[in-house]
Parts: sequence; C-alpha cells; structure tokens
Amino acid sequence: MVVVSNRGPLSFTIDDEGGLIARRGAGGLVSSLAPLVRGTGATWMAAAISDGDRAAAGGGVIEAEGFRFRSLAIDPDVYRMAYDVISNGTLWFLHHGLFDLPRRPRIDRRWREAWDAYRHVNHVFARALIDEAPEGATVLVQDYHLALVGTWLAQQRRDLRAVHFTHIPFCGPNALRLLPTDAAEELLVGMASHASCGFHARRWADNYVSCCREVLGLEPSTFVSPLAPDHDDIAAVSDSAACTDEMAWLDGKLGGRKLILRVDRIELSKNLLRGFHAFDDLLQTRPEWRGQVVFGALVYPSREGLVEYLSYRQEVEGLARLVNERWGTADWTPILLDMSDNFPRSVAALKRYDVLLVNPVRDGLNLVAKEGPLLNTNDGVLALSREAGAWEELAPAALEVNPFDVAGTADVLAVALAMSAEERADRAIALRKLVEMRTPRDWFDEQLSAARAER
Ligand code: G6P
Repeated sequence: MVVVSNRGPLSFTIDDEGGLIARRGAGGLVSSLAPLVRGTGATWMAAAISDGDRAAAGGGVIEAEGFRFRSLAIDPDVYRMAYDVISNGTLWFLHHGLFDLPRRPRIDRRWREAWDAYRHVNHVFARALIDEAPEGATVLVQDYHLALVGTWLAQQRRDLRAVHFTHIPFCGPNALRLLPTDAAEELLVGMASHASCGFHARRWADNYVSCCREVLGLEPSTFVSPLAPDHDDIAAVSDSAACTDEMAWLDGKLGGRKLILRVDRIELSKNLLRGFHAFDDLLQTRPEWRGQVVFGALVYPSREGLVEYLSYRQEVEGLARLVNERWGTADWTPILLDMSDNFPRSVAALKRYDVLLVNPVRDGLNLVAKEGPLLNTNDGVLALSREAGAWEELAPAALEVNPFDVAGTADVLAVALAMSAEERADRAIALRKLVEMRTPRDWFDEQLSAARAER
C-alpha cells in the first residue's frame, strides 16, 4: 500500500548543528490518516515543504513508526505556485464557491504558469509512484492538491490500484466553467483515471459525476465515505491534565454563563463573520440573553501566505471587537476570541458547550461537527450548516442553519439556547449514536475496497 498526500506525517526542522529534527506533521488529514497507516508497513509519500523537509528528502526513504516515509523534493518556487495559486487560490475557491466573480479568478499568464507548476508537482508524485510502487500495490491519493496523479499511473502502471479521495466539496458543471476548458478537462481526466474517486458526501460525488458527464462525456466510478473522529484519540485528550486545566480556564471566563462555541481555522469557507453577525442579532433581538451567554470563538490562523486570508483575519478581529464594544459590560465580554491553536482548550470547550455553531458556507465534511457531540457532556445542541458534508449524516439530530441567513442563524441560536432539557438530551443521544456509527478505520477500509474492486 502507498499513501500519497501533500502534507506528510513527519515534518523536519534543521537544528543549529545542521542536524534534522523530525516532528509529527500538521493538519487534520495527517492526524486522521497517521494512526491508520502506522504499523502497516505502507509507504507514505508527501511533498517536502520546509527546508528541513527538503534536506530529509535527499536522504531517501525514512523508516518511521511501522511505515516508510518518502518526502519528495520539489523546487520551492514551483511548489509555492502550485500550492498558493492553484490548490488554494483556485481549486479551493472553486469547489467552495468562494470566488468574488467581478475580480476572481483571473486566468492570466501567471495563472497559466501556476497551472504548469501544479501539473509538475503532480507529475513528481506520479513519477515516484511509477518508479517505486511495488507491483500491484494499492495507492491512496489524498485531496485536491494531487488530482492529476492518476493520469500518468493509468498510462504507465496499469498494475497499480489507485483511488483518489477529495476532502473538500466538489463544484458542479456551471462553476467548473470558470476554469479554462483545457484545465477543466485535464483535472477531470486526472481524477477519472483513478479506479474510483471518493468523497465525504453524496452531494460532492454527484457534482463530480455531473462534471465528468458534461465535460468528458463519461460516467466515472465514485464512492461516498465520510470520515469520522478517532474516539480513543480525543478521549485521551479529554482525560488529560492539560484539558482539565483548560476547563478551569474556560470556567473562569464563562462565570456560569451559557456557551455558544465555534472551533475552526480562520478560513474563508468557515463563515466566521456571519456567525458574529448572527450573535449580534441575537443580542439585539433577544435582550434577555445579554450578559447571560458568551460566544467562544476558538479559531486559529491558516494559510497566511494568501492575501485574502490575511484580510479575512483582520475582518474577523475587527468584527469581534465591534460586537464586544456594542454589548460588552464591565463584567461581560460577549465574544471570547481566542486564536491560540490550543487543542486541549478546544477539547475542553467542546465538552462544555451549550450550543455548537458549525456554519460553513460550504465544507467537505467538517469533523468538529462530529467531535463536538462525541465529547460534549452538557447535552449541547448542534447548530449545523446544511452546506457541510456532515449534514447528510447528522441532519436528523442537528438544528439546520442556512449559513447565508444571518437572521435565521440568530433564530436557530435562540431556539437552541431556550431548548428544554428533555429535547437537548434526546438530540444529544441521537447525535452521539449517529457519530458513533463510523470510525476512521471504516473510511480507510472503504478506500481500500474501492481500489481493489473488480475493474
Ligand atoms: C482542510 C481540508 C483538507 C485539506 C487541508 C489543507 O483541512 O479539509 O481537505 O487537505 O485543509 O490544509 P493546508 O493547511 O495543508 O493547506
């Protein structure tokens, strides 16, 4: 088995003596995948992102905890173009419906160069697989950074059984028309060259199929396989001393008030601004909640190499300040904005919330929507965007949020805050059952089955 992803399970820094120090790689995808790959003897290929990674890449395969790690060196400028301009600046915006159409996308000469860079990065991965994957190996290609890898595998290594899994949404045929026709075709051919393509939700798989029908005139193979949180892993954090300390910190901040919580990256698709506007509307229209509830926003910076993300962060901070100035009193700060990226603190808050607001404008799945109900000990209510992949699984027990409807979101928050203890408990039990139906292992095994299915 070979696993292929942009970020790897290990990242490296160089110490003062020039030695390499390995650390666990960052990001949700890596933390979900790593426990499943450990001990399997598989090979995991990922891009060398930092200088340390590039130094490690020169040393060939690294024996890690029960798997082999292969870091792939790519020219840093080429990698940046592919990652910033195409993966995050184009495909992410496209599939999440985030483009500000009067201005973006701008398919200029620089974009074309970046598309070449994206193709190059994908080719480096394909090349490594072609040269190094064992005969008949199962290959699990992860995410939109690597959509083209299958193209070359289908031409040169027909013995391999490769699937592609997309962790973000997939856009429909109308949105895909924002890409130049040749790039759209290349993207879809790349994905369709895998034995099958997996998605977290039926909606995204259907969009992908519609795109393939319209652009390529073919019916691709797909599977739907939502990821789930690792119960044991988060239970261990929940039981840790660090989490107990953070709970004490949080209790101090709340002073017995109710907690509306969100835990997110500071990310355009997460809809942080409308969340604050909805809270502002709640305080405006339901004066009885003033002084009685805190909106905890545990959010941490992401992708600060992109200018849109930097200005979004400033907007988020500015709006939180505004709401606090508007409603705050000497002993009550309405929005607790915490950007410290403190996992035990997030877990403590997830145990404690009264209402969890997960209102992305669009999201492949959203694991927080599943982690919350698993951890929460307070019969907390989940207010969930119908645009999140997780909505397909959790709808029966969550409250529906239209992420664009600020007044409607405020109404949902009010309903959640005022819900009877019985209904809260019923919903919390139902949510937990829905979440517990799946484990990360199911998700992993379903990729293996899709790869190994008869062709
Ligand atoms: C989110 C998405 C993943 C994606 C990751 C990339 O977590 O759900 O699908 O792989 O972002 O983040 P990065 O920090 O690597 O750009």
